[in-house]
Amino acid sequence: MDNNKKTWSGRFNEPVSALVERYTASISFDYRLAEYDIQGSLAHARMLAARSIITQEDLIAIENGLGQIRDEIRDGRFSWSLQLEDVHLNIERRLTDIIGDAGKRLHTGRSRNDQVATDIRLYLRAAIDEIMALIRSLQQALLKLAEHHTETVMPGFTHLQVAQPVSFAHHLMAYFEMLKRDAGRLSDCRKRVNQLPLGAAALAGTSYPIDREMVARELAFEGVCENSLDAVSDRDFAIEFCSCASLIMTHLSRMSEELILWMNPAVGFIMLADRFCTGSSIMPQKKNPDVPELVRGKTGRINGHLVALLTLMKAQPLAYNKDNQEDKEPLFDAVDTLIDTLRIYADMLAGVQVNAEAMRKAALQGFSTATDLADYLVKKGIPFRDAHEIVARAVQYAEQKGCDLADLDLGQLQQFSAHIDHDIFSVLTLKGSLESRNHIGGTAPQQVRSAIMRAQDWLSSGR
Ligand code: ARG
Repeated sequence: MDNNKKTWSGRFNEPVSALVERYTASISFDYRLAEYDIQGSLAHARMLAARSIITQEDLIAIENGLGQIRDEIRDGRFSWSLQLEDVHLNIERRLTDIIGDAGKRLHTGRSRNDQVATDIRLYLRAAIDEIMALIRSLQQALLKLAEHHTETVMPGFTHLQVAQPVSFAHHLMAYFEMLKRDAGRLSDCRKRVNQLPLGAAALAGTSYPIDREMVARELAFEGVCENSLDAVSDRDFAIEFCSCASLIMTHLSRMSEELILWMNPAVGFIMLADRFCTGSSIMPQKKNPDVPELVRGKTGRINGHLVALLTLMKAQPLAYNKDNQEDKEPLFDAVDTLIDTLRIYADMLAGVQVNAEAMRKAALQGFSTATDLADYLVKKGIPFRDAHEIVARAVQYAEQKGCDLADLDLGQLQQFSAHIDHDIFSVLTLKGSLESRNHIGGTAPQQVRSAIMRAQDWLSSGR
């Protein structure tokens, strides 16, 4: 068949210019939907035959033809044509070349509008499943690192100033929690992705006696989109996915920022494996944390895709508009970037070398146990605000002496309050400080160990 003749050109008197052809075509990127397009077409054809809209012979020809096309595509033998605009018309034309008229009957009761909406949903459902599995692997990597460091003390920060000592494992488990919510958001998003648009046809439904439930079952959709106009026009499911992707990247970007900071020689808490770093072409001493930096950078790119899709949608009247063709590149790139990032991250965490001594030393600076001293005084009957004031003065004194609170002797401490006794010294140690925060969600190593156990249970329950 003549590839230059458009499938829809019957009412047109002149061909589109080469520029318009290139401008309006989507084949350069939507070829990625081919597997899903074929899957959707097979389900549609089986339903058409079951409803006697096409014959059994036609169905067999369509099944064989689409099977052959699938092989050609998988083997890289399929030749995509720009003139044929998009993945749907490329496959349909090839099918007709192979099987003749039966191929032309496949599009009965269907439009590219419900077809493309179906393809994207099938694509995105598979992507979500892959991403959920990768989130779990990353969570496993976090748990593995955390297990070894429940007793490793590091300074916890607020305003990036030393605040209170925390267990390094506790710090890592904060990210486990973020990823757990991310997984929950994705599985919720999946339910709304997993609805069948086919049957909506161009926008209003179709006059053929179709069976949408059958198609939904064939394609393992949870249900059918209940309004044909909505089915072909909205891409909220893709926007929702991108917002989940943005949050995941935001969490990974925050973790990256910390890895970069921790790896700075002035901090020296961790070292990343060489394979995640690069050197400098001019400064021989450098080892740069390129991978976490790029994760931080690529977060901007995913946020951009979210905004692109929101903007794409915001002024579209019902129902389908060609604007929607622009949904694919941002979506594909969000999926690709997220998958690569999650994959690389789990591996990177597995190779983190921890310098527990550097963490401990840093926690000993900056009066990280000052709150513990205040709490001690409160337990001796002093109102918290007064205790706060007393400790502030003690801190100022220690600062002038150039030492930590725990380095002051009892006599020096008692200048600030007569309530201070020998038992204060166990309170002012890092270990004492950590162990005192012994409640669910607290940083006491015992609590962190049970948090890790609950996390393991959660992972193995597969929720
Ligand atoms: N390539 C198009 C897209 O991605 C397919 C649907 C085209 N429908 C139409 N009526 N022109 O949205």
